[in-house]
Formats: sequence, structure tokens, C-alpha cells
Amino acid sequence: MIGVFDSGIGGLTVLKALAEHFPQENFLYLGDTARLPYGTKSPETIRKYSEQVMNYLADQQVKALVIACNTASSQVIETHWQKLPVYTVIEPGAQKALRETKNGRIGVLGTRTTIQSAAYPLSLEKTATAEGRTVETFSQACPLFVPLAEEGLVDDPITNLIAFRYLQPVLQQGVDTLILGCTHYPLLKKSLQRVCGNQVTLVDSGTALCERLEKDFQNGVLKKEVGAEAERKIKALSTDLSPHMKSWALEILNPLQIHEFHSIDLV
Ligand code: DGL
Repeated sequence: MIGVFDSGIGGLTVLKALAEHFPQENFLYLGDTARLPYGTKSPETIRKYSEQVMNYLADQQVKALVIACNTASSQVIETHWQKLPVYTVIEPGAQKALRETKNGRIGVLGTRTTIQSAAYPLSLEKTATAEGRTVETFSQACPLFVPLAEEGLVDDPITNLIAFRYLQPVLQQGVDTLILGCTHYPLLKKSLQRVCGNQVTLVDSGTALCERLEKDFQNGVLKKEVGAEAERKIKALSTDLSPHMKSWALEILNPLQIHEFHSIDLV
């Protein structure tokens, strides 16, 4: 079973990508919805919350920890936690963006804390330097995107307007690639692509992460489940579960089924 953690239900976009890519794997998802948003909180608080969630998932006997949340990823540098491999979204997202860009100008969208951490620009710079390339990054915090996505206003005039406001300064820099550095942003993809136009490539962490895990399944770091696809289970837990959240979560994951969905107390 693979543990997937996000601050809310946005991480279901990552879970969906993983669950579709690895149809035999079991997943345990934990959304810390009672304490959402993480993106406006201090690095110390996010670090404390992340440790609590990683300890909880480790106690559930998962074989790997996927930190789908970009904000949490920006505060977790460990590659292992309680001897389990830890996968964050920053490096895979940065590497994918570097593979996509043609002009070396990359935009990064994220929560305030993710943008302030400079985790993406640092990772882009590191990989580009290792490859003997140059890259220019242009970052933009988009704090209003998370509540829009949590509310399900994914293709709405209000979302288009706010997307235009946030994206305009980055687009004016001539970026050809845009990192959706938050689990919630892929839900707003339609609006974002409309504002960017088709000449800008949107990179989301879910697909980038699949490639990273695929590598570790192939080199034996992760052991594959041997059961049939029909037998695999997807369980979801959240620290708060309102009826709205439950139905929106099921819609995001559709056509995948959640076999168990209930709330837990973390502390
Ligand atoms: N899940 C968070 C991320 O990917 C965004 C939501 C939040 O602010 O908690 O950065």
C-alpha cells in the first residue's frame, strides 16, 4: 500500500494519476482537511503537520510515502522517513518542466509558502546546471486558487478572471512552460489553459511523480503488488469530512472508486 498525503482534497488529482498509472497498487490517501490551508501557514507549522501525517501513515504499514502537497513538499527534505522512501513533488515537477521548455523560461505557480520557499526555482536551477543549461524562472503565488478548487468552481467566469490576474505578469515574461505547483491547480486546468493559450505547456506534479515512482518500481526500490487489478483497494481518510467534500472528492476521482472513506483524528 502506498501512502499519499495532501493538505486537502486537491491531492486527489495526484492520487488519481498514480492510481491510473499503477492499477495493481493499493493506496491510502490522507487529506488534512481540518487544518487546510497549509499554503498560508508558517514553514514551522507545515513541518510539524507534515511530520504528524507521515508518522500516521507509517503506522498504517504503507511501503512508501508520497507527499502530494507542494507546500508540505517544500518543507520536507528527507528522502526517507521511518525507513520508508519519501517522494515529494518538487523535483519531479521541476525535471519535467525542464524537459518541456524550449526557451528556458519557466513560470511557477504555487501557494505563498511554496513560492516563498523558492523550492521550485532552486530545484530547476540545480537540474539545469547539472545538464549544462540555463533557466529563468518567474514565480507567482496564487492564494485564491485553493478555495476556488475546494468549492468546485473549476470552470467559472470568476476563476477565469482571477487566473488572468495571476497569470498575466508571468506570461508577460514570455514563459513557454508553467508549473502547476499546487495539488489544487490541475482542477483549474481548463481555465488556466484558456488564459495561457495552447503555446504554453502546463506541467502538473501528478504525472511527473508517476514517472519517478515508475523508475523505482523498475529498479527494485519499490516492490510491486502481485494481486489482480480488480482486487486493489483505494482508501481515503481525512481529518474533516463534510458532505460537500465527500461528493466533490468522489467526482474528482471518478471513474475510480474509493473503497473506504472516513474521517480520523490525527492528534
Ligand atoms: N495542497 C497544497 C499544495 O499543494 C495547497 C492547499 C493548501 O494551501 O493547503 O501546495
